[in-house]
Amino acid sequence: MNGKTVHIKSFGCQMNKLDTALVNSALTEAGFSLTERVKEADVVLINTCSVREHAEQRVISHLGHLQHIKESRPDIVVGVIGCMAQRLGPKLLEHEAVDIVCGPAQIHQITKLITKTLQQKKETIAVTEKIRQRTDENLPLEDFESTYGIGCGQIQAQAYVRVMRGCDNFCTYCVVPYVRGPEVSRPPEAIIDQIRKLADSGVKQVTLLGQRVNAYKHTSGDKTYCLADLLRMASDIEGLEWIKFVTSYPSEEFFEEILQAMADLPKVCNYLHIPAQSGSDKILRAMNRHYTAARYLEMLDKARAIVPDIAIAGDFIVGFPGETQTDFEATVDLIKKSRYKNCFIFKYSPRPDTTADKRLADDVPLETKKSRNTELLAVQEKISDELSAEFLDKEVKVLVEGLSKKPHLDSAKSDGNPQLIGRTETDYIVVFNGPKSLTGQFSKVKIAKTSPLTLFARLM
Ligand code: 5AD
Ligand code: SF4
Repeated sequence: MNGKTVHIKSFGCQMNKLDTALVNSALTEAGFSLTERVKEADVVLINTCSVREHAEQRVISHLGHLQHIKESRPDIVVGVIGCMAQRLGPKLLEHEAVDIVCGPAQIHQITKLITKTLQQKKETIAVTEKIRQRTDENLPLEDFESTYGIGCGQIQAQAYVRVMRGCDNFCTYCVVPYVRGPEVSRPPEAIIDQIRKLADSGVKQVTLLGQRVNAYKHTSGDKTYCLADLLRMASDIEGLEWIKFVTSYPSEEFFEEILQAMADLPKVCNYLHIPAQSGSDKILRAMNRHYTAARYLEMLDKARAIVPDIAIAGDFIVGFPGETQTDFEATVDLIKKSRYKNCFIFKYSPRPDTTADKRLADDVPLETKKSRNTELLAVQEKISDELSAEFLDKEVKVLVEGLSKKPHLDSAKSDGNPQLIGRTETDYIVVFNGPKSLTGQFSKVKIAKTSPLTLFARLM
């Protein structure tokens, strides 16, 4: 026990949540204790996201807040980790509040950096100099991942398991390839071994993570493994009950094999998150997405043919450079035809160094981005509402995640039990009253009321 206390605040995607969990485990093992409260912390880490400018602005404003705290507590150490750390590197150290900068490909160094800063009272930094270069630096990273990816004894029902790092797709709007580096698929043995350990410690569901998880490909000996192979191997693990994977890129490669695995293997959840980003072929080309709207819809048809009760989710960007009203209408049309369970819609945000930012003017006015965003949300809300309504009076199995953070007023009438939140196999959020002890367990509930994004239920 080194006696120092750490607080971590995490922004961004599931990759970041996983990195935060890994850092938590590593620091706990090194003798740090974790705290939910900044006030009690000797070290404050912020795990950051660069995918949109807004995400970065939130971090900057949080740093301002920490700088204020530092005025009365100058000894507090502040570290920035994650995508912004890699993107901005030494520039972040110029910020008054920041003592440590550590990129996502360097998180295996985090304990070392914190210890050094605490002991020597000096700033430390670890970012990858040439992030797009494939180097042996992956070895310590892989080691870190398989050591701390097993949750350090914390019993949780759900765990993320990274199957690949980085991205090679270079969608023209996206900063990910520049901050998370080239695509590297982890060895299947390491992944399966990690899932087995998680299952042994009580984990019931794993979510396999990759920027393009369906592009997973690893050659070991004379066999090349794809995601469908991983799903089959993970399905054999005793104790594990549900397997989800995100995010899928609309590509033909392995597509049928993966869907067939989903259809064949009861543990593989019938859920696919497969962003289209736009419904206009012109915009898709400008985004460097390698499909047309028609090909994309054919893929969804195929998915629904192979896995009839599959739930599909998507992402769209509105206001990409050059998006005309006609292009936008093509997106509305694609959303209507896709019948997503839910959809994330983003306003285009130019990211430094990306091809779109370098070559294309951000020429769609903010007002237009906002109104297109609102319009798409409304179209999707109606579809989500119709699909949710099909659950009414049905019995479903949910994995209980815990207490609902923002209690919903319209849940079934209170019976003295707290409000719990769980998820179905197809990733629907279900809210119901029940004892807290159900956390981490599967429960049978009956849907009593539905809304576009949430199902309300009674415990059976
Ligand atoms: N601007 C707006 N949205 C973006 N996304 C990625 N990059 C940008 C950007 N520059 C969205 C995409 C992706 C999701 C994670 O974030 O829709 O699927
Ligand atoms: Fe970004 Fe495209 Fe890679 Fe997804 S597939 S991380 S959107 S570059």
